[in-house]
Amino acid sequence: MGDWEVRLIGSGGTTEREAAGIAALLRGLVADGAALGWVAPPSAEEVGALIADLVAGVPAGDTASAVAVAFTAGGDEEVAGFGYWRRYRRPTHRPHADLEELAVAPGRQGLGLGRALLSTLIAAALRQGVEVLTLDVRGGNTRAEALAQKLGFHQYGRLENFVAVGDARHDKLFYALDLRELRGPAAS
Ligand SMILES: CC(C)(COP(=O)(O)OP(=O)(O)OC[C@H]1O[C@@H](n2cnc3c(N)ncnc32)[C@H](O)[C@@H]1OP(=O)(O)O)[C@@H](O)C(=O)NCCC(=O)NCCS
Repeated sequence: MGDWEVRLIGSGGTTEREAAGIAALLRGLVADGAALGWVAPPSAEEVGALIADLVAGVPAGDTASAVAVAFTAGGDEEVAGFGYWRRYRRPTHRPHADLEELAVAPGRQGLGLGRALLSTLIAAALRQGVEVLTLDVRGGNTRAEALAQKLGFHQYGRLENFVAVGDARHDKLFYALDLRELRGPAAS
């Protein structure tokens, strides 16, 4: 399967190749029905605008995004995973951030990339002083739920039949990780 690594995307942004790889990853997953919030694959332009917005938020600590890169046998790099969090916009929620996407290429799932991406994003949230990191999972996404639970998230709610995919309705499960507890009293 080859080697891979996870990199935080800095204020310099991604290379064009990485941006194209992230767009292809998200488009492919959504086309296959992945629970990523889109009902139709996002355009490359839409993903480009998302990445630009994420990069713009890096200096202020308002966002963090990470890419998992796999090294092919030929020595090339290909995007195998992507994830990010953004701080909540509402002023009273600004200390907190929401992990809006976490995605691993179908051929590379179950190999630890998701765990490495999420760990990297949690570490970035700790460094940026985020107090509570939230995420939500579509009901039935057992792998995503297992991953969140293993990294310390606890479920704090469920909205039944909330996620609309055409005529189908799925539950939305809410998870949170209180980073103040991880940081400890001395640093809070
Ligand atoms: C959810 C997702 C990001 C997880 O990434 P991944 O690279 O496949 O996950 P990992 O290999 O790091 O495994 C993480 C944990 O998932 C669980 N897991 C792995 N394979 C599993 C399986 N087949 N069934 C149930 N749980 C499984 C394990 O608990 C594993 O923990 P471990 O590291 O202690 O073994 C990935 O599967 C994905 O992109 N899915 C489609 C998009 C999606 O649903 N995103 C989540 C939105 S919140």
